[in-house]
Amino acid sequence: MLEQTVTIVSNERDTDQYFRLVVRAPQITPLIQPGQFAHVRILPLKDALLRRPFSIFQVAGDTFSILYKNVGKGTEVLSRMRAGEELSVIAPLGHGFTVPAAGGETPLLVAGGYGMAAMFLLAQRSPQTGIVFVGGRRRVDILCEKDFAAIGWEVRVATEDGSHGEKGLVTQPLLAELKRSAVGRKLFACGPTPMLEAVGKIAEDIAVACELSMDEHMCCGVGTCLTCVIKVKAGDGWEYQRTCTEGPVFDSRSIAWEVAK
Ligand SMILES: Cc1cc2nc3c(=O)[nH]c(=O)nc-3n(C[C@H](O)[C@H](O)[C@H](O)COP(=O)(O)OP(=O)(O)OC[C@H]3O[C@@H](n4cnc5c(N)ncnc54)[C@H](O)[C@@H]3O)c2cc1C
Ligand code: FES
Repeated sequence: MLEQTVTIVSNERDTDQYFRLVVRAPQITPLIQPGQFAHVRILPLKDALLRRPFSIFQVAGDTFSILYKNVGKGTEVLSRMRAGEELSVIAPLGHGFTVPAAGGETPLLVAGGYGMAAMFLLAQRSPQTGIVFVGGRRRVDILCEKDFAAIGWEVRVATEDGSHGEKGLVTQPLLAELKRSAVGRKLFACGPTPMLEAVGKIAEDIAVACELSMDEHMCCGVGTCLTCVIKVKAGDGWEYQRTCTEGPVFDSRSIAWEVAK
């Protein structure tokens, strides 16, 4: 993990409110594992010292990228930054996904909205290709279809308004696929918490291994402030763990959903 000032290579709109930001960070890129994140200080944001966490989307040579949605104060300022400007990043952070072993399980990835960003490196570094199930409210929320197809992955889309792919929630095509065959498969998911809980429940019901990336609100990003804790099972009870250090990726069986609300 390094704290560095990095230079923006590009910052382009992807679809609607989503942007792809590429930064040059030669010392950070060799360290990045799938599912890890960068904690970004948006330097022109005068009144906000707080960093914003973003999954590391792609790594290419000495650059890495993030795929972000413009949702508020920080991401709005970020979306107006241009090539040549600087950001401060701490990266890579967190405990990421377990990359499948060669000849091991076939990965089934499940993503909602910008959750796709956390998935790409895992897909790229997995020795075997699999299926990525992607869901969103509307067509514009379906990201990276071409990126996954370009590395040989099958992409199955579900939108709530039916404007692209199957109409409904992403868990529908996932469940249908697992009912066809769950043997030798493992789930990996990132997206809104209700989606993660639903995927975790499917994994438990079908007895298939599953890792979930839990994106909680974060402050420090390095384990000291405890803003980001979730409840995980411990013995007969539960304990808090930090999503920024013990996570964001957890084995779905470890999460204490029943006491998490
Ligand atoms: C580990 C991790 C990885 C993430 N990866 C990505 C990513 O790849 N792409 C991406 O677009 N976003 C990602 N996020 C969410 C991102 O950090 C927030 O959207 C961002 O911090 C919002 O900053 P803002 O100043 O624009 O919004 P604010 O003005 O601070 O808030 C605007 C809205 O965004 C919501 N928000 C703020 N922080 C979060 C958060 N941590 N998670 C969800 N909603 C939040 C607020 O509740 C509010 O509704 C990730 C979050 C975590 C914890
Ligand atoms: S964000 Fe501070 S401990 Fe996790």
